[in-house]
Amino acid sequence: MNIPLRPQPVINNLAGENALFIVLGINSNPDHSGIIDFLANFSALVRSMANRFPNSQFTASLGIGSHAWDLLFPDLNKPKELQPFQEIKGSKYTAVATSGDLFFHIRANQMAICYELASIIHDQLKESSYPISETKGFRYFDGRAILGFVDGTENPEHEIAKEIAYVGEEDIEFLGGSYVFIQKYLHNMEMWKALSTEEQEKVIGRKKYDDVELSDDVKPQNAHNVVSKAHDADGNELKILRANMPFSNPSEGESGTFFIGYSRSFNITKTMLENMFLGKENGHVDRLLDFSTPVSGSLFFVPTFDFLEDLAE
Ligand code: HEM
Repeated sequence: MNIPLRPQPVINNLAGENALFIVLGINSNPDHSGIIDFLANFSALVRSMANRFPNSQFTASLGIGSHAWDLLFPDLNKPKELQPFQEIKGSKYTAVATSGDLFFHIRANQMAICYELASIIHDQLKESSYPISETKGFRYFDGRAILGFVDGTENPEHEIAKEIAYVGEEDIEFLGGSYVFIQKYLHNMEMWKALSTEEQEKVIGRKKYDDVELSDDVKPQNAHNVVSKAHDADGNELKILRANMPFSNPSEGESGTFFIGYSRSFNITKTMLENMFLGKENGHVDRLLDFSTPVSGSLFFVPTFDFLEDLAE
């Protein structure tokens, strides 16, 4: 058995100030050898960039969608939970499902470094793929969402994050891989800014300025940090690793959050989404959705570098 030793660097507590999120579709062409070569060489590309820019907090990871997996690897097994994301339709709001074959999450302190890798990827894949979406995220002050609240506080610490983000013995062939779910949200900033700070705090469940969690007697049942929590059958809390970033084009009136969650099991992320969009047992839909509309939603699998390099054979 080939034990994978090198997961892609999805866990990064020092992730750079900037990020590029790129989703591509694969052209319908029976010969996918160009893409396979690219995938097999991806770790070398990442290594080269990290060597060129050692102090830039550069990292990049690559995810493969369910449809692409079937297309590219008809003779290989598939990660147990890799399927196209199915939309979640609640009584008020819908988590839409959108297409995507390859996903790139590129992070660095300077956007120029993110751009450098994106442009190499484009050169190598332009004949075999087409663009679906590209979003430029930036770190907003002390890691805030564009809504003004610190985002990522309850993320697991580095060592625990490994347990949470990487597939374990439950799917031995894909040990060290990760499920990444992405959703691009647009915020209604006018509605949001019309709320008082106290009211905004009740939507998120934390204080705005200092990020302190609201006490249970003040926190409403439909606050985001109440509704989004997932638990197993024994009541233990289940976690994922979030690496959201804000994006904004103020003059065009477009501001949002690029939600990105890595997990060892997509089911955990899915439970969080169901809680948010369908409501928990008590029927509370996430109030954050009154100000946030997802315009995309796709699931990808991030295999280890070992898996990708083996494709060269
Ligand atoms: C509109 C997009 C979103 C925004 C702006 C947002 C923002 C936030 C903020 C500000 C917090 C509080 C600080 C923290 O613990 O990180 C938070 C917590 C959290 N969010 Fe989100 N979030 C979004 C979407 C999502 C989605 C789609 C999920 C799950 C699929 C999710 C899962 C969570 C979880 C699990 C927590 C921690 C709850 C806790 O344990 O206290 N979020 N989010």
